[in-house]
Amino acid sequence: MTAMSTAQKDAARRALTGLDGKVALITGGGAGIGRGVAEAFALLGASVVVAEIDAGHAAAVRAALADLGGDHLVIEADVTEKADVERVVEGARARFGRLDVLVNNVGHFLAPKTDFADTDEASWDALYRINLHHVFLVTRAAIPLMTASGQGGSIINISTIEALRGIPGMTAYSTFKAALGGFTRSLALELGPKGIRVNAVAPETTESEQVRALAAVPPEHHDQIPLWFPIGRFGQPSDTAGCAVFLATELSAWVTGTTISVDGGALAAGGYYRMAAGNWTHTPVITHPGSMGQKPKG
Ligand SMILES: NC(=O)c1ccc[n+]([C@@H]2O[C@H](COP(=O)([O-])OP(=O)(O)OC[C@H]3O[C@@H](n4cnc5c(N)ncnc54)[C@H](O)[C@@H]3O)[C@@H](O)[C@H]2O)c1
Repeated sequence: MTAMSTAQKDAARRALTGLDGKVALITGGGAGIGRGVAEAFALLGASVVVAEIDAGHAAAVRAALADLGGDHLVIEADVTEKADVERVVEGARARFGRLDVLVNNVGHFLAPKTDFADTDEASWDALYRINLHHVFLVTRAAIPLMTASGQGGSIINISTIEALRGIPGMTAYSTFKAALGGFTRSLALELGPKGIRVNAVAPETTESEQVRALAAVPPEHHDQIPLWFPIGRFGQPSDTAGCAVFLATELSAWVTGTTISVDGGALAAGGYYRMAAGNWTHTPVITHPGSMGQKPKG
């Protein structure tokens, strides 16, 4: 093999890890995880299209993207509305003429935890609409533009750890997020021959507009947070953004149809967490060593 020049190595590195010349559409990219993804993609050279319902969030991400440089487009739109979705995809086509990456990020649990038996049809429908229906609308509208370049692409669906484990009081949210896994797997098979990969990311509790994780913990319990996750902290939008970068770039060229957990190890821990003494348990009142408890450390 001939030795590579520095310029060739730089080009190879950029081809693997960069998004130069690519166009990425992110739904709900004005805050939280979506904004983290938008900024990461822009930093790596992509032109970013954000579809955002909230005017304030749209203005904020527009300013942030302008500051990062490059050509970006932020469109105020409700992605649960078909006409808005068509306007967004047409906006991307008119401005950039191509679409390489789609991040279906919009989603919400909508209401405090409620037993399923106490929920009604209207809440089921609303949760379906904000977590799954728009995934149909946006993906269906985006595929023709994604296939037009003939260069393949990547679809990334933002799921949740609650799609992979149960969550009492949020059965409908968990149901529609879990459905994203089936959508991801089946669509990956359909689009593989066109070079479009389809994957999902499943975050654990992540600081965002929707989830004020740290603020929800009384200050006197902040010292316990490191005990709750193997990697002892809540997630940040940059954690999911890092995984989205992997899925959007050539780093993941042979990865499709899968869901990646971004959860600080929570799913691996299952019901296990650490007690104040540092010992792991899933049965907190049992403190003796053995299969059901670990001897307190120290
Ligand atoms: N934050 C978490 O702890 C967490 C954990 C697991 C999964 N998730 C998932 O990650 C995704 C993002 O969550 P987040 O916490 O960053 O949310 P967020 O509410 O902080 O941000 C979502 C953004 O989407 C926008 N938006 C909402 N509805 C929209 C619509 N109909 N059309 C266009 N834009 C819309 C909002 O205005 C906001 O800017 C969701 O799918 C959520 O289910 C979040």
